[in-house]
Amino acid sequence: MCGIVGYVGKQSALDVIVAGLRRLEYRGYDSAGVAVVANGVIETRKKAGKLINLENEIESTPLTQSHTGIGHTRWATHGGPTDLNAHPHLSEDKKVAVIHNGIIENFSELRTELIAAGIKLQSDTDTEVVAHLLSSILPSVKNDLAEAMRKTCGRLRGAFTLVAAHADIPDLVVGARRNSPLVVGRGENENFLASDVSAFIAHTRNAIELGQDQVVELRADSIRVTDFAGKEVAVTEYEVTWDAAAAEKGGFDTFMLKEISEQPKAVADTLLGRIKNNRVELDEMKFSADELRSVDKIIITACGTAYHSGLIAKYAIERWTRVPCEVELASEFRYRDPILDKNTLVIAISQSGETMDTLMAIRYAKEQGSRVLSICNTQGSTMPRESDAVIYTHAGPEIAVASTKAFLTQVIAVYMFALFLAQVHGSELDLEALVGEVADMSAKVDLVLDTMQPVRDLAKQYMNASSVLFIGRHVGYPVALEGALKLKELAYMHAEGFAAGELKHGPIALLEDGLPVFVIVPSPTDSPVLHEKIVSNIQEVRARGAHTIVIAQEGDESVVPFAHHIIRIPKCPSLLQPVVATVPLQVFACEMATLKGYDVDQPRNLAKSVTVE
Ligand code: F6R
Repeated sequence: MCGIVGYVGKQSALDVIVAGLRRLEYRGYDSAGVAVVANGVIETRKKAGKLINLENEIESTPLTQSHTGIGHTRWATHGGPTDLNAHPHLSEDKKVAVIHNGIIENFSELRTELIAAGIKLQSDTDTEVVAHLLSSILPSVKNDLAEAMRKTCGRLRGAFTLVAAHADIPDLVVGARRNSPLVVGRGENENFLASDVSAFIAHTRNAIELGQDQVVELRADSIRVTDFAGKEVAVTEYEVTWDAAAAEKGGFDTFMLKEISEQPKAVADTLLGRIKNNRVELDEMKFSADELRSVDKIIITACGTAYHSGLIAKYAIERWTRVPCEVELASEFRYRDPILDKNTLVIAISQSGETMDTLMAIRYAKEQGSRVLSICNTQGSTMPRESDAVIYTHAGPEIAVASTKAFLTQVIAVYMFALFLAQVHGSELDLEALVGEVADMSAKVDLVLDTMQPVRDLAKQYMNASSVLFIGRHVGYPVALEGALKLKELAYMHAEGFAAGELKHGPIALLEDGLPVFVIVPSPTDSPVLHEKIVSNIQEVRARGAHTIVIAQEGDESVVPFAHHIIRIPKCPSLLQPVVATVPLQVFACEMATLKGYDVDQPRNLAKSVTVE
């Protein structure tokens, strides 16, 4: 979603900001703009469309050299993606510039109030309202921009990150956050503000988490953080563990290709230090063994791809721990009055740690007295901060909008948690063997990646298909859902995932000559009954003229007679199979989008971090 960059320091603010916005492009946006403070004036340039449009605009009408500025990539909510609606927005006297991420819920009320006061609004956005409000408060607080920001925030409802600069205060940028991300980067005689660390990682790895309802005053040589009441608060500084190179394409045509290829490492990094003597050790697990034993129900909540990892988690948790587990879309969770109490453990899974639906689910769960564990890839993000415990995935920065390596590491993290819980419960299963199998998964992902050319060829063959179906049973079902989601979001094709057993209850009517159907086949030795059932499903599909693309483990010859195409994956227990079975589906979707000429890293209409409900 919207990307925010603020800078005060020794370099050209414009250069730092545009480079930062470039690094935030992955979040998804449809217009961009900058403002710099120079000689008592705020100068802005704003353009609809990609950053290149803004850069061309700046080239044709250059901005004055400045060391203080703010920049924004906008993902439209209130008002279309036009030059006028792009941020920054200015106050009437053009002294205050504001950029914003999130939604101001009481915007129409404030808009009416401002119009009644004689202010002429220029855009359709909720953000412009903030610029006027801030400006109107300034005289009453002796032009103290931070104090005006605090007072402004007191008038706002909703989720927001706001960053403002003032024409007459050349060395200051002020930021505020509520329910929406904002990180500070501490440099030497320069400081940064951004939606996430990737915007300033080329300059500094020292970052500061901003808490909920906090305002930061950023100067070249100081960072001051207060709460909305003006009370100074202590901040937690941390070092970002990855560097700028990790957020570059590294020779790949797209970030997605790079991230798919990084999956063995991402899986290995997520396992690193957490398996000792064939046992899972989660040093960061803040719950005591007694607390974990008192959990009588687990509810997993997440969105999109992360939800699919939650679906896989349910199979592992119930199988290995016998603790009942439900999985729920975060956007539905709090609206259905779920049954929660102190013995319920709610697990939130999120790559970004900022997804508003999931965040709201966490807050709801806490209000009901439940404990919350988050599984998250982004250090310093909101969800881990608001959870009682966190298991970090170590996928590194995921820039492509479509989640790949983050998904695989989420699945690994939930296996580790499930095994940890099983250890705590003293399970009679051979946990050591299972831990060993999980530890082998990185190497197995590597093997799959080596055999992906036939999958790319399949994308060519089915490029003109009107639809693609995916079916699976047990953990193959969430894999099918994930395969369909990847194809929809990247190749804009109609794609559906089904539980294979449900085919005969309706979706079978979709089958027709030549329709490609991916089938995820479980291990014949590990799950003979499931295997037999899915072989019947493959036959059902084939009998109706559809083309079966069968994902089956090495050595499974029983599926050969019914498969139009076979994609081989390494042998592993069925429960762990999603880690390898998902990879060909990612490759297929990525290749299909490339063949169709679509932007693989930034699919249309999508944002990387969805910070509105
Ligand atoms: C799909 C995808 C999305 C995210 C979802 C949740 O490829 O990336 O479906 O999985 O928006 O995002 P996080 O994990 O950041 O909460």
